Amino acid sequence: MRVLLIYHSRTGVTHGLMKAIGAELEARNHSTTYVRLEPERRLSWLAAGYAALRRRGVRLSTTMPRSLMAYDLVLIAGPVHSGRPSAELNEFLDNMPDAIGRRVAVFATNGGGNADMHLKSVKTRVERAGGLIVYEDAVSGQTVKNSAALNTTARNIVEQLMRPSVW
Ligand SMILES: Cc1cc2nc3c(=O)[nH]c(=O)nc-3n(C[C@H](O)[C@H](O)[C@H](O)COP(=O)(O)O)c2cc1C
Repeated sequence: MRVLLIYHSRTGVTHGLMKAIGAELEARNHSTTYVRLEPERRLSWLAAGYAALRRRGVRLSTTMPRSLMAYDLVLIAGPVHSGRPSAELNEFLDNMPDAIGRRVAVFATNGGGNADMHLKSVKTRVERAGGLIVYEDAVSGQTVKNSAALNTTARNIVEQLMRPSVW
């Protein structure tokens, strides 16, 4: 299976989660492509929180995939900022290529706050682009920073992603 992992990570937590899930997929012989969304200029903490609150995007230096059709599964992830997706993730979601019929899993990493609004905001835009949500999850920074907990979480997530009812 060809899997795209596209994500924003300001401080490395979401990156750690995506790498752990990717490693678990690779161990099962799936092919992975990683796209880390990087801003042209890093926003300050305050500006990042405000941009997320106002559902704004930000210019990215990353080249975005022009199509998602080459992938069987797309993982979209980012940190919760002010309860919502980050500006970098907004930029991707608001300019998302067609996702018609693509299976999409959505992830948030958070610091202990609620991720529901974040996940809902991402899912709405994925569905608008035609994607099918097959999985959603919020994983705390604490879990990602504990390697045993991270490995167990990644294994459980991949098992959920590969369950027959998804395919
Ligand atoms: C500007 C800003 C706003 C944040 N707002 C929240 C929040 O509303 N709720 C929460 O649980 N965590 C919040 N966090 C913490 C991050 O979501 C958390 O540390 C996340 O795992 C970081 O992921 P990253 O390292 O991939 O950027 C915020 C962090 C930043 C920088």
